[in-house]
Amino acid sequence: MDFIRLVVLYGLFTYVSAIEPFSTFGAIGTAVLAGLYTVYGPVKCQFKECCTSTWINLNSTALQDELQSKLYGQHLVTDVIIKHLKAHMMKDPSKALTLSFHGGTGTGKNYVSKIIAESIYKQGMRSKYVHLISSTKEFPHKDMVPLYKDKLRDLIETSVKECPQSLFIFDEIDKMPPGLIDTIKPYLDFYEQLGGTDYRKATFLFLSNTAGDAISKHVLSNWLNREDIELKEMEHIISKATINTKTSGMYHSDIIYKHMITAYVPFLPMERRHIKECIKDVLVAQNYYKRKDIPEEDVRKIANQLNYFPSNEEIFSVTGCKRVPEKVSYVMETDED
Ligand SMILES: *[C@@H]1O[C@H](CO)[C@@H](O)[C@H](O)[C@H]1NC(C)=O
Repeated sequence: MDFIRLVVLYGLFTYVSAIEPFSTFGAIGTAVLAGLYTVYGPVKCQFKECCTSTWINLNSTALQDELQSKLYGQHLVTDVIIKHLKAHMMKDPSKALTLSFHGGTGTGKNYVSKIIAESIYKQGMRSKYVHLISSTKEFPHKDMVPLYKDKLRDLIETSVKECPQSLFIFDEIDKMPPGLIDTIKPYLDFYEQLGGTDYRKATFLFLSNTAGDAISKHVLSNWLNREDIELKEMEHIISKATINTKTSGMYHSDIIYKHMITAYVPFLPMERRHIKECIKDVLVAQNYYKRKDIPEEDVRKIANQLNYFPSNEEIFSVTGCKRVPEKVSYVMETDED
């Protein structure tokens, strides 16, 4: 907008200098404006977010540190994410990066999305190039799918046109009305250009509970050697369960069949020992204790406030780390009396 104002001003200057005999004014005006133009663009991007490497740049060290220190019980997540993000950000990608996150409530899918956004965009989740799309909030009515399709198409096209390295996070994509997800399909493909725009630098994260049960079942049958579970076996379980899930928004969707998903990322159900780590983080973050002073008794009390499954063995937390903050507040506030 400001640039347009400058151009108008410049036009006015040349017009005035043409009718006035002060031709030197026009020359000076041109020089000043040319100077302003070359300086103004870059300066503006120092203070306000632009689609440049100052604002968008993967810090893989930070990504690795954050994932390793704040994510519990997810040995399959860190490597696959770092590997694919690095490959995607460092060279010219042949297609948009599409990562499909699978797992139950509170296992860290949203958390990891946030960490990814923060390790690429200086503004993190607040960046205008990061788009969080919540299926239940934004697409609640099945009969409005045609309208939603237009909305979604418009969002993706406008965003990527403005900045090729846009990030789209689709939360609860399994709750998307059937058919809507296919709207995204062309943007995930290998096309160099689509209507004049190149979508291959964009990143899509699909978050869902789809295959959550299949993941839990597999981990339960291997729970003593959980860390030995490999990505390959988990990927197989996820893709099979995704295709067979009738309620999934991805059901019969071309996206699965055409292998447009770069990688499946499995989030495993969390055991009591992982929940305890989340509890400690929250206790420290909310200033109840310093890390070294946390009494095990408090951690145990809080962990006991959560529900576990299967009902007889009680191995995994039903809600992962999701409800930990409210349970911490509850136990700590009632304790103090
Ligand atoms: C990347 O992250 C690390 C760890 O958080 C930090 O020390 C470093 O300064 C960051 N590098 C850049 C270029 O921002």
